[in-house]
Amino acid sequence: MTDQYAVIGNPIAQSKSPLIHATFAEMTGQDMVYGRILGAVGDFVGAVDQFRAAGGSGMNITTPFKLDAARYADVVSQRVQLSGAANALKFDGDHVHADNFDGIGLIRDVLDNLRCPLAGKRVLLLGAGGAARGALLPLLEQVPAELVIANRTLSKAQELAAATASRVDVRASSYADLVGQTFDVVFNATSASLRDELPAVPASALANCHLAYEFAYGRGLTPFLSLAKEARAQRLADGVGMLVEQAAEVFHWWRGVRPLTRDLIHTLMIELR
Ligand code: ATR
Repeated sequence: MTDQYAVIGNPIAQSKSPLIHATFAEMTGQDMVYGRILGAVGDFVGAVDQFRAAGGSGMNITTPFKLDAARYADVVSQRVQLSGAANALKFDGDHVHADNFDGIGLIRDVLDNLRCPLAGKRVLLLGAGGAARGALLPLLEQVPAELVIANRTLSKAQELAAATASRVDVRASSYADLVGQTFDVVFNATSASLRDELPAVPASALANCHLAYEFAYGRGLTPFLSLAKEARAQRLADGVGMLVEQAAEVFHWWRGVRPLTRDLIHTLMIELR
């Protein structure tokens, strides 16, 4: 029987995951279909229960449900335990396994595809929701010189920084307190771009940085990337590489085969100008 998978989020129309997984399935000869589900905020559990009852084998989770997904599962990876956020579920009888491949996807993209090492760099992470949590530990494993987490709701950044036991200097900050500080690499892990909004990061924090990286993808120059361009960031990237790389990891977790990513990233890439 054809195995069923889906991505759930809100909004969801923009998701490229169905296209990516259909391409991987074709490349590797896997018998599966992959749909998209618009989840009602506040009823994540109902939507996932329904998909499982209909015979679903696994799901990808996108904003704003990554924290809900971690809570839904009964078998969680260490990455999920530490971040509290999951981007993939696997259904196995009564058991629900959760893992988070966002961070691995991000690091693969930044290090291997964009060739931007993070060791010894001053890194700024915008956001303290599910996406930022998933990225935090893999970023720290690269041993940057410092990592500042800035969030609109400062208390969430403080909680995240406090929960991190690392030899890296990790600090929480408001956006206003970033004035006068500069960084080598800036990641926008907020969901602001999905609504064409700009986190209140001062342009000076992006001035001449090596890389400004937007987690959202397929939206061209988002307000964040436009600000980075004006601030003369040396390189701009959106999250398409992260998306394809994490999808390849998820696909391997579900199906036991690892698809190639390079050509698909180039096909999906949108010029950022
Ligand atoms: P995700 O899974 O995408 O991280 P989330 O868990 O709902 O989604 O978190 C959304 C993140 O984007 C949060 O850090 C949120 O900031 P708050 O914690 O202050 O709500 C951030 N965010 C969303 N819209 C934003 C905006 N317009 N400006 C700044 N930050 C924003």
